[in-house]
Amino acid sequence: MSKSTTFKVQPGGVLRGEFRVPGDKSISHRSIMLGSLAEGVTHVTGFLEAEDALATLQAFRDMGVNIEGPVNGSVTIHGVGKHGLKAPKADLYLGNSGTSMRLLSGLLAGQAFDSVLTGDKSLSGRPMKRVTAPLAEMGADIKTTEQGTAPLRIFGRAGQLNGIDYIMPIASAQVKSCLLLAGMYAQGETSVTEPAPTRDHTERMLAGFAYPVKSQHSKVSITAAGQLKATEIDVPSDISSAAFFLVGASIAPGSDLLLKHVGINPTRTGIIDILRLMGANIEVLNQREVGGEPVADLHVVYSPLKGIDIPEALVPLAIDEFPVLFVAAACAEGQTRLTGAEELRVKESDRIQVMADGLLILGVDAVPTADGMVIQGGAFGGGDIVSHGDHRIAMSFSIAALRANGPISIHDCENVNTSFPGFTQLAKNAGLDIVEEIV
Ligand code: S3P
Repeated sequence: MSKSTTFKVQPGGVLRGEFRVPGDKSISHRSIMLGSLAEGVTHVTGFLEAEDALATLQAFRDMGVNIEGPVNGSVTIHGVGKHGLKAPKADLYLGNSGTSMRLLSGLLAGQAFDSVLTGDKSLSGRPMKRVTAPLAEMGADIKTTEQGTAPLRIFGRAGQLNGIDYIMPIASAQVKSCLLLAGMYAQGETSVTEPAPTRDHTERMLAGFAYPVKSQHSKVSITAAGQLKATEIDVPSDISSAAFFLVGASIAPGSDLLLKHVGINPTRTGIIDILRLMGANIEVLNQREVGGEPVADLHVVYSPLKGIDIPEALVPLAIDEFPVLFVAAACAEGQTRLTGAEELRVKESDRIQVMADGLLILGVDAVPTADGMVIQGGAFGGGDIVSHGDHRIAMSFSIAALRANGPISIHDCENVNTSFPGFTQLAKNAGLDIVEEIV
């Protein structure tokens, strides 16, 4: 029988200290993908040694790429060149990772071999038509289930893809990145226009590998005319992991944290903007650029929060941070309203429903809506929460204990390892009274 992990968190606590949270998940995935397709040897440091990024790493090993590590976040990738991947001997299992599946579907559509992409229960329920439909327009041949979900059966169409000019109906970096990777194998130009800015790590990293990519306003374009040249990549800490501590320190009186070397790419900093609008005290210190990505140390000190209407323009820039932002809203004075975030319903879990259910158990006045939530801040208690196997739900309710009046137990926490290995230890060192029970 597989093991189940429960987090048991005692109420109260103060977060203090300085530390570095693990490497950025989005950048770690892309470092393996582009490093594998490059000519030459790419060295990566700060790589996220968590299940999602390791699923991508294993997939490329399965396609014949020699990858050394990870050892303490260092990975050495012996690139095989754009046309050097080999047919995998079995299905590529991508665990919980939507990024792996959606980006790989684009990359594999134009290869000279067939492949099958599978995932865990959560990933097998997530929508894949958002990538397979535009890929089909490019000439790709990919079969999904009738529901448009994985497994994805990809029949490689080397030399037969055509560029498209695609206007994305949703703001998704995974869809954009998928099509750019397919565009590296297509005839003519592939362009993607986004309805709102989404994370641009793919574009930045392509440029870092000297691959020509053109960005103009909301449109990004690529062609097959280019080669990736191996490079060095220093992966910054993941702002999505730092987010738990930004909220934790903001809601726990007496807290004072310095989070070091955090990626502050402007397409990812919605969490800082939203918390500041709520009254948080966050300083961005020592700003610098590391390998094409902006990085800084984030100093956060407790400050009473107030409820706000979250500006919709900030939604894609904080898309993974809403579970913990709902906790911030529960601790704020007055009402917080989120709209325009229907995408939250198709993440690793339905994050609107699962968070509203959990907040209600704690006694928070939280009303889910089709595209967001309305939360009335105030005092709340403890309780038993089911995370539905969603890493960010599990960590968000752990942080909620800082302000709860009773202990919180969170069940089903194994998947915290998909993005944040060592979360409980780091949180404990910072001042959260948390223990992990594995049964
Ligand atoms: C990601 C893009 C986002 C985000 C996900 C990682 C990426 O998804 O939620 O965790 O690395 O490109 P969408 O593209 O669905 O918005």
